[in-house]
Amino acid sequence: VSGLPGSIRDAIAEKLGNVGSVRGVSGGMVNDAAEVDTSSGKVFVKWKSSAPHGLFTCEANGLSALRGASSLSIPEVLLVSDPPASNASRFLVLEWIDGHPPRDRSAFGRRLAEGLAELHARNAAPDGQYGLDYDNYLGSLEQINSQAATWTEFYRDQRLGTLLRLGERAGWLSRARALRLGALMQRCDSLLAHANTQAVLIHGDLWSGNFMSAGETPVLIDPAIHYADREVEMAFVELFGGFPPRFRQMYEEAMPLDPGYIDRRPLLQLYPLLVHLRHFGEEYGPAVDAVFDLYGV
Ligand SMILES: Nc1ncnc2c1ncn2[C@@H]1O[C@H](COP(=O)(O)OP(=O)(O)O)[C@@H](O)[C@H]1O
Ligand SMILES: [Mg+2]
Repeated sequence: VSGLPGSIRDAIAEKLGNVGSVRGVSGGMVNDAAEVDTSSGKVFVKWKSSAPHGLFTCEANGLSALRGASSLSIPEVLLVSDPPASNASRFLVLEWIDGHPPRDRSAFGRRLAEGLAELHARNAAPDGQYGLDYDNYLGSLEQINSQAATWTEFYRDQRLGTLLRLGERAGWLSRARALRLGALMQRCDSLLAHANTQAVLIHGDLWSGNFMSAGETPVLIDPAIHYADREVEMAFVELFGGFPPRFRQMYEEAMPLDPGYIDRRPLLQLYPLLVHLRHFGEEYGPAVDAVFDLYGV
């Protein structure tokens, strides 16, 4: 972790009072981060010299939207700097969360599972549309949220279709994989349809690095919000592990998933797997191919 740039330190001092000691924070996938003492208290700062214009605004909007929609803890946004000039410093200042492991792991897991179910249950899209009225980011990747009236159309075109085009153009998706992906996209309608599809607000990037524990209190960070079928959130959760034991069971005790989720899950995991293929390369090739194999394309 590199040190906090002087320009960011000065900007924080101007808004939040004198800056004292600065300690690097690790654990993120994308940005540099630090714990910063100011005269108005300790804050969390994340920045990246190459952050695209809009990235931190989107993250701040996502955090604020989740804070308004969920009873789970979400850090308060204290400052966003996202100027259009390419040489300007872009950063985000959040309320500091005192992360420490829960004493009662099962109580923590239950709170997180029930909180997530409540987020999904209480926040159906007002217009019933999947997507969002603006594009945002999944990590550093631009996430297209153009709205659609049905889940299968949204997932096929905005999630898989966008990566198909991007991957072919940029060259990280082989010809063979592009053909298999195209074939699978044609089957999305039949494979992803189920009884109770509904557009609900999801965190959108819920892997184990994007929730924290403040003791027994779960805290959500680093969202990529949009309105989606909640199954895609659970598929993310289950892709890389790291969640409390029996997490899905506890979620389903609060709000059951439709029958057949397990059969749809690999297809829903294809989006994050393709994002990983793009970002990390062939390490993720076999997992992507396994999804194609599973559906026989
Ligand atoms: N508000 C906060 N207070 C304290 N620590 C935080 C806060 N937000 C994030 N962190 C820590 O910083 C790490 C990276 O944060 P994250 O927002 O996920 O960054 P990235 O965009 O790089 O993935 C997290 O895993 C967590 O440990
Ligand atoms: Mg993160």
